[in-house]
Amino acid sequence: MKTIMILMFVGLFLFFETEGASNISNIVVRCKYSKKNELLMANCHGANGQKLKTIPDNIMSEVQILKLQTNRIAKLNNRSFVMYPKIKELLLSDNVVHTIKPGSLSVLDKLELLDLSGNALYEVPAGLPKSLVHLNLNMNPIKRMDQLSRAVGLQVLKLSRCGLVKYPALDVMPSLVELDVSGNDLLNDLDPVTLAATCRLSWLNVTGCTTLFQRPESRCRCLSAVKWTRNHNIQVFGMPPCPVANGTSVANKCTAPTALHKTTALFERCMDEWDRRNTFRWSIGLWLVIMVAIVTVPMYVRWRNQRGHSKIVRAILPSTSSTVFNVRHESSRKYLFFYM
Ligand SMILES: *[C@@H]1O[C@H](CO)[C@@H](O)[C@H](O)[C@H]1NC(C)=O
Ligand SMILES: *[C@@H]1O[C@H](CO)[C@@H](O)[C@H](O)[C@H]1NC(C)=O
Ligand SMILES: *[C@@H]1O[C@H](CO)[C@@H](O)[C@H](O)[C@H]1NC(C)=O
Ligand SMILES: *[C@@H]1O[C@H](CO)[C@@H](O)[C@H](O)[C@H]1NC(C)=O
Repeated sequence: MKTIMILMFVGLFLFFETEGASNISNIVVRCKYSKKNELLMANCHGANGQKLKTIPDNIMSEVQILKLQTNRIAKLNNRSFVMYPKIKELLLSDNVVHTIKPGSLSVLDKLELLDLSGNALYEVPAGLPKSLVHLNLNMNPIKRMDQLSRAVGLQVLKLSRCGLVKYPALDVMPSLVELDVSGNDLLNDLDPVTLAATCRLSWLNVTGCTTLFQRPESRCRCLSAVKWTRNHNIQVFGMPPCPVANGTSVANKCTAPTALHKTTALFERCMDEWDRRNTFRWSIGLWLVIMVAIVTVPMYVRWRNQRGHSKIVRAILPSTSSTVFNVRHESSRKYLFFYM
């Protein structure tokens, strides 16, 4: 590990010596290495001088935190990160990213945090890895979000100031707990049906959504959205007051049984999906326990047998190892039989 690092530094130094005059060398030299919480961090933050236009291909391959903020990177393709499979945090804010090819991010199967705020993305990138926990897409003109549900582990989603017209839920997202849609002043409605798709949400920021529930006819939806967030313990920041009742019009009655049915059904589908994902994890855990038992119990029994043989006590007691086993390890017995 250390030798690799030293070799890399020597390599970088030689590269700098030979290519000193070109812009590429500046790029190399600008990445500074350090440790953050035991993780290797490369800081290639574009300062006042040269800006990176592509992902450099000569960063240390062990890099775990890659900082590339304030550069001029526009595109990511399936070769961009192929050399850096250990990245856990990728910071690409304030670039000009408009195209992310599907294979770009899927190679990063350890990626947990992705910051793409302040770019030019029209859609949520395809191929988001399952490991992703935190996605920041603030200040992108996002129009399409159908790839969002692929990020099955996503817990925090930031979509502040994205010009959103609709609440971002196209399919159930049971892992999501924190959603920031603040500063989307075109977002005028928050339907409980869409809220139900994020069934485990506990934190929602709608601060600065200045048109939210402003129309008088939004009153009922507003009331039911408020009720939904209260019943499901969603902490909402910046929710405007619901429009007041307007005369004796039909809209004041606020009964929509079909919508309620739809909302409940979606909520249940989301919770089922959550259970399914966790049952899967549980079953893997259980299988691991069983495998360990299969391997260790016979070894333990043999060890006891051998120890037992060396004892004189054993000659007196006619009991065999299997009775000892039966008495002391009732619960593990079936695994042993399974093994045999
Ligand atoms: C290096 O950067 C300067 C200024 O940005 C630019 O004019 C020049 O063409 C670049 N040279 C190469 C080899 O890219
Ligand atoms: C990368 O993308 C190109 C097209 O852009 C494609 O031809 C190639 O097969 C891809 N490589 C991998 C490893 O996916
Ligand atoms: C909600 O969003 C606004 C605007 O983006 C921000 O200023 C505020 O701090 C956020 N609220 C919380 C509780 O984070
Ligand atoms: C009452 O509601 C109707 C339509 O629902 C709207 O046209 C009218 O402007 C509202 N009146 C007030 C005082 O808000």
